[in-house]
Amino acid sequence: MRLCVERAREIGFCFGVKRALDILEKAVGEHGKVETLGALVHNEQVLKKLQKAGINVALNVADIKGNVAAISSHGVSPEIEDEIRRRNIEIIDTTCPCVRRAQIAAQRLVKAGFFVIIFGDTGHPEVKGILGWAKGKSLATREVESVLEAKGSSRRLGILSQTTQIPEQFTGFVKGIIDFALTKDAEIRIIDTICPDIRRRQRTALDLANKVDLMLVIGGHNSANTRHLAELCAAVRPAYLIEKADELEPSWFHGCQKVGIASGTSTPEETIEEVLARLEEL
Ligand code: F3S
Repeated sequence: MRLCVERAREIGFCFGVKRALDILEKAVGEHGKVETLGALVHNEQVLKKLQKAGINVALNVADIKGNVAAISSHGVSPEIEDEIRRRNIEIIDTTCPCVRRAQIAAQRLVKAGFFVIIFGDTGHPEVKGILGWAKGKSLATREVESVLEAKGSSRRLGILSQTTQIPEQFTGFVKGIIDFALTKDAEIRIIDTICPDIRRRQRTALDLANKVDLMLVIGGHNSANTRHLAELCAAVRPAYLIEKADELEPSWFHGCQKVGIASGTSTPEETIEEVLARLEEL
């Protein structure tokens, strides 16, 4: 039986990734070679393509060999920016405007006397960057209990989210904090810093998942937003996260008529087309 395949409405690169790639392309035209501080995006195919175009990854500031370095769309802390400048390296800033909003929100909350709580994955570069903007008066976590321990005697709590988290989970986290921290004279300020593209992408992927027998979510295995998308789809249908077409297993499709396709925000259109072509063969 022939598989019927439907793509989610929001698919392929998000605005922030497209913007970062455009900035880098222009920079390579001007400077010949550019290094990015950390991976520009969490997608192997995109990184290989960038490498061919003369864009290499430096893992930390000390590793930067040239005199031009790009900050990735995930952004960095002000300390890292200063460290780069101290080495007289020109900065090409591709920080996504949505991430910048979260950084500025954290900075303002700290200036206004709040202890900042970032709902996010502690090891993710975006979260590390936002923590830096909150000048140490902050905590990144997804566990309400950790907030209780870290906030100490602080009665003013500012809560924001990593841009790529699942909105419903953020809301649940905020409710959990309100339950224990909203006591006499306490003040809780919540800033919604979830990226609008992520909201739309998650909503349209979930709508599609509800209409099909199986979902394929295409994107980097280490991409936070792709993993969240797969997690959401898996709650309603069998869902597989794949990075490339050759990861498809024919056995997944037994008894399956309709397949939905969604992608992370750094998945190139080419990879999506390769997966569609492989599905045709199946
Ligand atoms: Fe920016 Fe949202 Fe993409 S934060 S990099 S537009 S996923």
